[in-house]
Amino acid sequence: MNYQEDQLTKAFEQLVQERRSVRVYDQEEPFDHDAVQRSLEKAVLSPNSSNMQLWEFYRIKDNTLKDKIGQYCMRQKAATTARELVVVVVRPDLWKKRQQANVTQMEKVTAHLDAKARKRAMSYYTSLIPKLYGKNDKLGISSFVKRIIASWIGWKKPMVREVGRSDVRVTVHKSAALASMTFMYAMKAEGYDTCPMEGFDSKRVKKVLGLPSAAEICMIIGCGKGAEGGVYSERFRIDNEEVIFTK
Ligand SMILES: Cc1cc2nc3c(=O)[nH]c(=O)nc-3n(C[C@H](O)[C@H](O)[C@H](O)COP(=O)(O)O)c2cc1C
Repeated sequence: MNYQEDQLTKAFEQLVQERRSVRVYDQEEPFDHDAVQRSLEKAVLSPNSSNMQLWEFYRIKDNTLKDKIGQYCMRQKAATTARELVVVVVRPDLWKKRQQANVTQMEKVTAHLDAKARKRAMSYYTSLIPKLYGKNDKLGISSFVKRIIASWIGWKKPMVREVGRSDVRVTVHKSAALASMTFMYAMKAEGYDTCPMEGFDSKRVKKVLGLPSAAEICMIIGCGKGAEGGVYSERFRIDNEEVIFTK
C-alpha cells in the first residue's frame, strides 16, 4: 500500500468509526449550511440502478417548515433539534425523463460506433428500461404478467426475477439509501453529525413539500453538530461471524 492509499484507508476508517446516529444537536455553535450542499453534491455521485437517478433531495432550512417537519417526524429530537433536515425522496414517476437523459448521453458516447452496435448499446434504455419501469398498473396485473414472463425465461437460463412494480420501488429506494449513506459520510468529513430517520408521517411530509402521490420518502436526515448526550448508547453490532459469510 502506498502512502496515499494508506492515508485514504485511515481517513475512511476514522469516518466509519466516528459516524454515529446523533439524536440531539447543538443549538449554539454556528452551522455551515453550505456543508449540506457540498455533501449532497457528493451524494449524487453515488452508484444507482441503471444510472436512472430517480432521487431528489429537499433541504429544509426554513425554521417554520423545519419545525413542522420535526413534528411530522413524531417530534424526535433528531429532527426537532436538527439545524437542517434533508428529505430524501424517490421519484419512480420521472422514469421517462431520466430514460431520455440517459438516451441522449448514450447517443453521445456511442457516436463512433456503427449503426448496429449503437442500436444494441442503446437498447438497454430504449427497450429494457421501459419494460421495467413502464406499464406498472396499481392493480398489479402487469407486474403479475412480467413475473410470469421472467419465470418462463428463467426456467431455461438465468434471468432477473425482480421485474414487478414493488421491485421497482425497492430498486429506487436502494439507490436513494446509498446516496443517503454517501451524504452522511460526507457530512461527517465536514465535521457534522447526522441521523437517518424513517419514523415520520410520510403523507403529511409529502403534502407540505407539495410532492406528487407517486413520490415516496426514503428517509429524512437530521444534520448538525452533536450536542452532549446526543449519542444515546454505545455502538452495538451483531458479531461479524453471524453476518459475514465466506463460501
Ligand atoms: C433506514 C433507517 C431508518 C432509521 N430511522 C431512525 C429513526 O426514525 N429514529 C432514530 O432515532 N434512528 C433511526 N435510525 C438510526 C438507527 O437506529 C441507527 O443507525 C442504528 O441504531 C445504529 O446506530 P449507529 O447509526 O449510531 O451506528 C435509522 C437508520 C436507518 C438506516
